[in-house]
Amino acid sequence: MKRILIVGAGGQIGTELVPHLQKLYGTENVIAGEVREEVVEKLNETCNAVQMNALDFESYRALVEKLEIDAIYNLVALLSAKGEANPLLAWDINMGALMNSLKIAKEFNCKVFTPSSIGAFGPNTPHKNTPQDTVMRPNTIYGVCKVSGELLSDYFFSKFGVDSRSVRFPGIISNGCLPGGGTTDYAVEVFYEVFKSGKYTCTVPHDAYMDMLYMPDALEATTQLMEAPAEKLIHRNSFNIASMSFTPEELFTEIKKRIPSFTWNYDIDPIKAAISSSWPDNMDDSCARKEWGWNPKWGLQEMIDDMLKACEQKVAQGLY
Ligand code: SER
Repeated sequence: MKRILIVGAGGQIGTELVPHLQKLYGTENVIAGEVREEVVEKLNETCNAVQMNALDFESYRALVEKLEIDAIYNLVALLSAKGEANPLLAWDINMGALMNSLKIAKEFNCKVFTPSSIGAFGPNTPHKNTPQDTVMRPNTIYGVCKVSGELLSDYFFSKFGVDSRSVRFPGIISNGCLPGGGTTDYAVEVFYEVFKSGKYTCTVPHDAYMDMLYMPDALEATTQLMEAPAEKLIHRNSFNIASMSFTPEELFTEIKKRIPSFTWNYDIDPIKAAISSSWPDNMDDSCARKEWGWNPKWGLQEMIDDMLKACEQKVAQGLY
């Protein structure tokens, strides 16, 4: 990979993937593509950013040609809860961006990375130790897009030889940029609220047990998989990856051990409740471990300590 384009670079993952890739491949070789003009301006302070719309095939194609891109990280997506509020738009955005990325990758021989998700699974998937290859019948539009995206990406590989790769991300916890519209967002928001107001109202049920991942491991997974020798990959789209699972109640109790004044309550969003109960408790990530060396470093306790430190500083600086 010599020239990288990150599409949807201003979101939760992109904000941190850009500097991670810059360190690995050189600042000049990483281009951050983003549709929102004000976000492009901000990105331009630290990287080469371009305003682009992944749904506009011709201009997206022209950009890849002009910049001689050979790897695309397609991060464009409406998340699960937001998707349920506008399912037809979610399909158009999530699948439109992916289809354009794959078609352009086919023409210019680019590698493609697209995140899949725990959302690709559904209520009749085995929830404990969810296998790599199992029943996938999600009942959210986000999940429908993720399963379709996995199949489409594998199809572009087998039919046209496009080097497409993907991981099924758990809920990602991070302190660079807030996620928006996801079911697992609570596990990020709470860390800011601890310092802003000292209390948090959670919209996900107290016992919703879900896979989670800390951003440094998410970044490592992304670049490790993209660098893995092709001949080692039995799977491609997409790999289960896992590192920790917990319920809101468990997370908040651990936070309270460190910040005794912290309090919380619940005001359940029925849509998020249904979504969270349909997702795995913990995925079996043995294929990722075997095929490309997935080996997460961050567990619950270290993640909490690191998040509290970072979010305390951000709130003190007035950044959130
Ligand atoms: N974090 C995502 C969501 O909650 C799951 O991939 O929608």
